[in-house]
Amino acid sequence: MISEDLKEKLIRLAKEAQEKSYAPYSNFPVGAALITEDGDFFTGCNVENISYGLTNCGERTAIFKMISEKGPQAKIKALAVTTKADIPCTPCGACRQVIQEFSLPDLVVIYKGSNDYVVMPMSQHLPGAFTEFVAVNQDGSSKRIQTGT
Ligand code: THU
Repeated sequence: MISEDLKEKLIRLAKEAQEKSYAPYSNFPVGAALITEDGDFFTGCNVENISYGLTNCGERTAIFKMISEKGPQAKIKALAVTTKADIPCTPCGACRQVIQEFSLPDLVVIYKGSNDYVVMPMSQHLPGAFTEFVAVNQDGSSKRIQTGT
């Protein structure tokens, strides 16, 4: 779990980031803020596109900024998502999978629930996450692939 101070700081940073949102189609600005394993903060907002499917959510914007600034070993300790409308909004399925890719085992996600903000551990956020598979080569040999390998 995280301290109340850190939770409040992540919500404040996410709310600042949502002000930068580019959301002319949905009119639904979203902000995200995360803290890494070693205490750095990254923020992001949703960036929409007239070809709707090209839209990038706020959470993934923050995560891609983290990796491009810190490198491939970076890990997320906690991530908050906010909306301008201040209505309940959990990270979408695509973002959950991307959060999972870079999460510490005890990562928490903070989002607006029906009343207050909810702090949810990753284990509840994406139960049964896709984190490994066996790749079979043409010659019949196989290799176990796990997140990050
Ligand atoms: N959106 C996010 O940025 N994050 C989420 O987790 C949910 C949805 C954005 C995508 C789109 O720009 C707008 O919200 C409406 O779906």
